[in-house]
Amino acid sequence: MKVLIYGGGAREHALAWKIKQSSLLEKLYLCKPNDGFAELGELIEAPDFEELAKISLEKGIDLLVVGPEDPLINGIVDEFKKAGISAIGPDKKWAALEGSKSFAKEFMLKNKIPTGKYEVITDKKDIYNALEKFTIPVVLKADGLAAGKGVFIANSRLEAEATLYEYLEGKFNEASKKVLVEEFLEGQELSLICLWDGKTLLPFIPARDYKKLKEDNKGPNTGGMGSYCPVSLNLNEYQEVEKYVKKLEEALKKEHAYFTGVIYSGLMMTKDGIKILEYNMRLGDPETQPLLMHLESDLLEVFRKAKDQKLDEVELKWKKGQSFCVVIAAQGYPENPKKGGEIKNIEQIIENHDAQVFFAGVKKEEGKLVANGGRVLSICQTGVFAQKYIYDAVSELDYSDKTYRKDIGEVSLSKEVCRKNEGCCDNCGI
Ligand code: AMP
Ligand code: GLY
Repeated sequence: MKVLIYGGGAREHALAWKIKQSSLLEKLYLCKPNDGFAELGELIEAPDFEELAKISLEKGIDLLVVGPEDPLINGIVDEFKKAGISAIGPDKKWAALEGSKSFAKEFMLKNKIPTGKYEVITDKKDIYNALEKFTIPVVLKADGLAAGKGVFIANSRLEAEATLYEYLEGKFNEASKKVLVEEFLEGQELSLICLWDGKTLLPFIPARDYKKLKEDNKGPNTGGMGSYCPVSLNLNEYQEVEKYVKKLEEALKKEHAYFTGVIYSGLMMTKDGIKILEYNMRLGDPETQPLLMHLESDLLEVFRKAKDQKLDEVELKWKKGQSFCVVIAAQGYPENPKKGGEIKNIEQIIENHDAQVFFAGVKKEEGKLVANGGRVLSICQTGVFAQKYIYDAVSELDYSDKTYRKDIGEVSLSKEVCRKNEGCCDNCGI
């Protein structure tokens, strides 16, 4: 197969690394890779999706694999469909499950999928009435995509009012002209990534992502500072997840969701059972890195089955133990990441520690690899002792601006809101 991967983060590097191992691969093409993995395939550039689809057709590409959400929401798959090329990723219509939080909530309500209580507001005069229906802390969400910054947990009524005002005034432009006010849910989060072929929903092993910058889930939200899989579940939790997968599959069938792609459910395991926080219509970053390290099966074979609507024939095979991913960010991330620091000894890390390194914010400058973004790279390891040894690899990395969390793999409850809001701890006023 000739495959095109779209996107330039560590997730897409992991996809390229895994797909390169497939015996089904004839040739790999890359669109917008970073300099850290661009040599894994032939580069394709195009001014827009229509042109990209046209070039892909000329090159005989059989499958497009889309990493990030933006191109999906902006219709990359619609253009490839028109050109008759299959894709792993939904068309615009179904990408909206990620692109509009109110659309996702309506989908959940219609299909009796458990989620937090919520209200939608578009007018500042409704702020007061909406907030009356919730206790503090309360969660505020811009309806549209806001570069991962659209969710705010308000720790006082005043803060909630001010934030809602800001959002509706257009803090995130069109994305926050509609806002969800949502019940705050407590528990452990889980990332449940499934493949969908229009008929069958195939779950991956559960993964966990660490979104906060600092240990113990403190500090600002980030794109993700690390991840691991599988997350161990007790029997009851496992059965709940299974029940949820069946329910979601039924809902997708009932709604005639005819696309091939990923549906990633952000779950909160609350004391009242599983509740859905969000849908992403793509693989998670950084969850993809340990998931693909852990996957024994040929990913391209699985994608081919998905494209042929034969996911019911697939039984995913996973390695033993667990896989871990520690994200190395640049000093100052997320607000003001320092660029330009040289990243050395990558080969040594891979060889000495039986690790994999997937690049994100990097570029090549005069033959050197330097940091060029917030999340710079992911260091990953798999196996029974991976959690114990991954930090040996991380500490040996020769990159002087490195910032990372030291507790990836440890259980951390999402109960992070300090109700005092007196500036008494790191969690005040999150
Ligand atoms: P989302 O983009 O909806 O996944 O939200 C980003 C993060 O905000 C989630 O991963 C959670 O950590 C947190 N979050 C979102 N919704 C809620 C909620 N209803 N209760 C508690 N935390 C939430
Ligand atoms: N890991 C969260 C995301 O990919 O959105």
